[in-house]
Amino acid sequence: MKRRSKIFIAIVVVLLIIQLPVFTPARNTTEAEPVNDIAKAYDVPMDILMDIYNSCYDCHSNYTKEYPWYYHIQPVSWWMALHIRNAKKELNFSEFATYPPEKAAKKFDEIREQLEKRNMPLRSYLLMHNEAKLSDEDYKNIIGWAKKMYDEITAKIDSVNRK
Ligand code: HEC
Repeated sequence: MKRRSKIFIAIVVVLLIIQLPVFTPARNTTEAEPVNDIAKAYDVPMDILMDIYNSCYDCHSNYTKEYPWYYHIQPVSWWMALHIRNAKKELNFSEFATYPPEKAAKKFDEIREQLEKRNMPLRSYLLMHNEAKLSDEDYKNIIGWAKKMYDEITAKIDSVNRK
């Protein structure tokens, strides 16, 4: 066999092996009740809750809604699982109620910043999830809300510190 065909066959074999179910990462979902969801500790207007649920929770919560068919094709699921892990490390709406006030304020400030720059939701995700797209109005609403929450929490922290 030519060297080139050997390399080709080796690549095909590796691609086939990584399709085995053992190599598919566990799904990001849980039976547990979302007792520490952001809405349990902070005032989240219903329209904003719907927006972030539709556009952010797939990566930034413990409950990815549904996995697309291509999730079963490697290395797609590794790439998706990595995104979700990194996203949750930065911001997890399902754990938000456990964040100390300083951290919560910082996260609200980051949300404002990311949305002002239109960095979130990730562009690669929006390509496949039309329903997660936010309108200019939605961006404005969420930014205004995040700013208000940031101001409220920092004012509270300041008043406690002054005592
Ligand atoms: C497809 C997955 C995905 C979606 C959907 C998504 N994010 Fe992210 N987000 C990430 C990843 C991954 C990171 C980690 C940092 C990075 O790699 O850019 C992140 C980081 C962040 C950060 C922290 C950034 C920093 O300051 O370092 C914030 C805030 C954030 N996202 C907010 C949001 C909001 C708000 C939404 C919904 C409007 C959203 N994200 C939707 C994947 C996602």
